[in-house]
Amino acid sequence: MIIRKTPAELEKMRRSGLLVWDILQKLGGMAVEGVSTWDLEVAAEAMMKDAGARPAFKGYFVPSAGERYRFVLCTSINSEIVHGMPSERRKLKKGDVLKIDTGVQLNGYFGDSAITVAIGDVGEESARLMEVTRESLELAISQVRAGNRLFDICSTVEQHVVSNGFSIVREYVGHGIGTQLHEEPQVPNYVERKNENPRLKEGMVLAIEPMVNAGKADAKVLSDKWTAVTKDGSNSAHFEHCVAVTDNGPWVLTRP
Ligand code: MF3
Ligand code: CO
Repeated sequence: MIIRKTPAELEKMRRSGLLVWDILQKLGGMAVEGVSTWDLEVAAEAMMKDAGARPAFKGYFVPSAGERYRFVLCTSINSEIVHGMPSERRKLKKGDVLKIDTGVQLNGYFGDSAITVAIGDVGEESARLMEVTRESLELAISQVRAGNRLFDICSTVEQHVVSNGFSIVREYVGHGIGTQLHEEPQVPNYVERKNENPRLKEGMVLAIEPMVNAGKADAKVLSDKWTAVTKDGSNSAHFEHCVAVTDNGPWVLTRP
């Protein structure tokens, strides 16, 4: 069942969304050569605490990993797609493509967002990868209106990514969000006709999160049970926003 939110609930989700945005802005600014992903983790946890929010990812049980995630952030670098774990030993280097994914729970409601940051010059292909991934999210957001269907979102991402010569990660998908971090429906970045294709209705909130590889789509998980990487070693990009269906069209909760 897809849980629709009242206007009052959307206002609460807005507060969670803006907090996540604020945190990601600050982390994005901090992310320069020499900084470790642990430095980002520590800063993020402090900001959440200051805001009276709970880190949404820390302690979250992920069935595919079979255990709880232990960190506030996912910090995934280059060929790492998602679920990269912050580490003191992991210092950012020039040319790194860093994905920062995080979520909060504030007043019972979740916010979840991700950005990809270039550490110095990442080269032409990775810059284009980041741009196309970001564009695919923006195009998908414009499809978030009552009367459209879920596949309008999925196909928009897929079409933009594939027509630009990149590939879509299939193992990880977007999701509904509200009083749970992951609610129905799943929001894949591709169309698979066997999946459900519900009509979008006012009050639904979707976390749309294209994960895009420069090379082939195939992913694998490292022996740490978490870090998902591209099989071919190519770079990957990820952007995510929470978007509400409203009378006035899409409302991106995770940015001003
Ligand atoms: N990338 C996931 C998402 O945006 C992160 C949640 S899983 C966790 O939905 F393990 F990091 F908590
Ligand atoms: Co998400």
